[in-house]
Order: sequence, then structure tokens, then C-alpha cells
Amino acid sequence: MATLIRIADIGQYDGQEVTVQGWLYNRTDKGRLQFLLVRDGTGIAQCVAFQKDLPEAVFSAAQLLTQESSVVITGTVRADQRAPGYPGGFEIGVKDLKLIQVAGEYPIQPKEHGIEFLMDNRHLWVRSLRQWAILRIRATIIRTIRNWLDEHGYLLVDTPILTPAAGENTTTLFEIDYFGEPAYLAQTGQLYNEANIGAFGKVYCFGPTFRAEKSKTRRHLMEFWMVEPEMAFFSLEDLMAMEEEFVSAIVQTVLAQHRQELEILERDTSRLENIKPPFPRITYDEAVERLQKLIEETDDPERKAELAITWGDDFGAPHETAIAEMFDRPVFVYHYPTAAKAFYMQPVEGRPEACRSVDLLAPEGYGEITGGSERIFDADLLKQRIDEIGISPENYAWYLDLRRYGGVPHAGFGLGVERTVAWVCGLPHIRETIPYARMLNRLYP
Ligand code: 4AD
Ligand code: MG
Repeated sequence: MATLIRIADIGQYDGQEVTVQGWLYNRTDKGRLQFLLVRDGTGIAQCVAFQKDLPEAVFSAAQLLTQESSVVITGTVRADQRAPGYPGGFEIGVKDLKLIQVAGEYPIQPKEHGIEFLMDNRHLWVRSLRQWAILRIRATIIRTIRNWLDEHGYLLVDTPILTPAAGENTTTLFEIDYFGEPAYLAQTGQLYNEANIGAFGKVYCFGPTFRAEKSKTRRHLMEFWMVEPEMAFFSLEDLMAMEEEFVSAIVQTVLAQHRQELEILERDTSRLENIKPPFPRITYDEAVERLQKLIEETDDPERKAELAITWGDDFGAPHETAIAEMFDRPVFVYHYPTAAKAFYMQPVEGRPEACRSVDLLAPEGYGEITGGSERIFDADLLKQRIDEIGISPENYAWYLDLRRYGGVPHAGFGLGVERTVAWVCGLPHIRETIPYARMLNRLYP
């Protein structure tokens, strides 16, 4: 009896008879020899059907196979350096082939297609090699995030998706009807994390978050996954020290486990090898000075215009890219202007116009991948900030309670999974980093 195997494990079965179940990825027709590239989700294997070795019905089934037809193939594994596939280096000499369903003409041909067409066919596009590589790396990034936090004493505490009030800002809320009351899809789990640290010390939440971002960019999704660690008795300096370990672990794990996928993506891995602590740290003030110097040094008026900045402005993509280009690894920018950041951030001592916030900017133009801060832990100051920005204080009574019953200095951050995947994979756009992207003009499929 043949053993049912996963193609990923094919190397363990040299000389043995095996069965694989999958789909025809591609084929080369050499008349009496049919080279079938079959994928089963774990890998791709070349299966060779030789007319002389097979009953006529089986060989003609092999000839009939169209792209993406589903099949069950039994045959003998043999090592062959030249055999293409993933992992490759082994092929299957076909002894039997069962056609499960003959696919109709497959919309995605092995040629270039326009991006909108591919996104319309995302339910099929996920089968393509590049997407296979990206989504496998995504899964490893998520697994590493969870393993690292679990192993370092952080407790996973889930936070709600249906919430009564804004967590981050009021401009990107998705509002829904909650039995006649307005409710919002969570922009962040942070505020609940701040309650949970009172119970558990170091926590994280991990789930989808929602932002009605009314602009089209290559960095924004409406639905994205965010991991948010939050720690009691933690400073901004503690936060940066933890983040650089955490982000380095993610990158190094992908490098160690996904050489094959990074090769499929033609990722220049030399830009990832050096992602190790320490990461450089600069203040927002220094970042602005560096940008202004860059503006002085350039003669290109367009470049001058896109980099224009005065103290107090938030960074746009060109600023983030320009700052990140000055370093060979991710760079922390800290102490942003208070007015450019969320309401809950602790002011810098003696300098209320700046706050104890930190963003981590990834190299190669990927921009902000994490955002975090120390949180205000004084009840009166927090109440004042809530009033200043004009969000309904009654919705935040519980949040103020946290400062009344054992408030402590604390800090946390959020890391966007899709931006991290885009950076690690070296992708030009965030839309390929999530199985089904939700964008300004896209809710299908
Ligand atoms: O900087 P943000 O808005 O921070 C927060 O939400 C905090 N409450 C996190 C915390 O301190 N617990 O978002 C954090 C990260 C960004 O750095 C970015 O990587 C990602 O989330 N992000 C997005 N990713 C894709 N599409 C969007 N629209 C995103 N908005 C933020
Ligand atoms: Mg941010």
C-alpha cells in the first residue's frame, strides 16, 4: 500500500511508493512523457507519467489534466537533482492517477495579469506560488509573535471588537448599529489592555482591528491585524529595549525557516540579516533637524516640497522613508508632538507639547511598523485630555477608574502584522500580505 504523504516531506520517502492529493499547477507535454507539476498546499512536486509504464486509461487521464484540475496520484519517489518543485530534488514516477475534477479554463494563466483582475480573483490567486510564499511567511510571523510573547511572560488576554467608544481617534471609526445604539469596530485593544495589566502585569491582545482610512495608500488597510503588548511598571526606554528584541526575533525566525519562500519572492535577504539589537534611537526633534538638513542639501524642488516639515507636523510617508534611509536597521523615533498623537500619551516632563511616544520605522521605505507610548496614569491629567479633545467622558469612566485604583507608570505598543509582512517579504504593496484585503474600493471577494 502506498503511503499518503505531504509533498513538503517527499525527501523522507526516496524509493517508496506514495500517494499525493492535490491540484495540477503546471505541465509540460512531451508526447509519451507528461511532466505534471502537482501542488498539495505544502509544496509542489514533479510527477512523471510515462506512456509505456501506464494503462492507457491512466495515461490519457494524465494527458487530459487541465491547470488546477484536482487529482490523486500514486507513484514511486526518486531522487533527481534536476527535479523542479518545492522542496524539489525528488520526483514521482506515476503508477496511478485519479482525476477528481477536470477544471474549466482557469482564469489565472502563467503570465502577467493586471492587479485589479488578480484582486477580483483573490479566491483563486491565493493558490499562486508568490501568494503561497507570502501567506506562509505571514503564518510564521504570527506564530513567532505569539511564541515570543508567551515565552517572555506576556499573557494573551483578548479584547473586544465591538466597542462603545473610540480607542485611537474619532476620524477613522467604523460605526455600526448596536440595538439602536451606536457602536464601533475596535481600532485598538489598548484601552482594555490597560485594564488587563492591573490583573496580569504583562499582557497582549492580538486580533483584527478596523480603521475607516479614507485614503488609498500602499500601507493602509481597513481591516488589519495588530498585536498589542502592554506592560505595568514600564517606561519608554523599557519599551524600546523590548521592541528591538521582539522585532529582531520575528525577522530572524523568518530567515531561519523560510529561505525557500524568500527566494521565490526574490527578497534581498542581506537587508534582513543585520536586523538585530540595538536599533538606533532618535528624538522627533532630531528627525526634524535631519529632514531640514536634507531639504537644504537637495536642489530638486519637488523633493524639497515633499520633505517640507515644521516642528509639530506628523510625518508622512516621504518623511518616514527619508529618515529610515539614514540607518541600516529599523530606527526608533520618540517624543513626538503631543498634538500629532493620541490623547492617552504621557507628556514629556516639563515639556507638555511633546509626549512619551515612540514609533519604529522600518528600512527600505516600509515606514512605521509599530507605534507605542507611555500612558498617562494620573487621573486628573487624563480627564483633562479627554475633555480637551472632546470625546464623551461618560464612555471613559472605566478607563479613568484604572488611574484611581492602583495606577502605575505603564507603556505598550502595537505592531501591524501586514506592514511587517510587507517589509520582511519586500512587497511593494500591503494588499498581498493578508488573505483577503479590505481596501477603500474593495470588499470582494
Ligand atoms: O500607531 P497605531 O495607530 O497605534 C495604536 O493603535 C496603539 N493603540 C497601539 C498601542 O500602543 N497598543 O497603530 C499601530 C500599528 C502601526 O504602527 C501600523 O503598523 C499598524 O498598526 N497600522 C496599520 N496597518 C495597516 N493598515 C492600517 N490602516 C494601519 N493603521 C495602523
Ligand atoms: Mg501610529
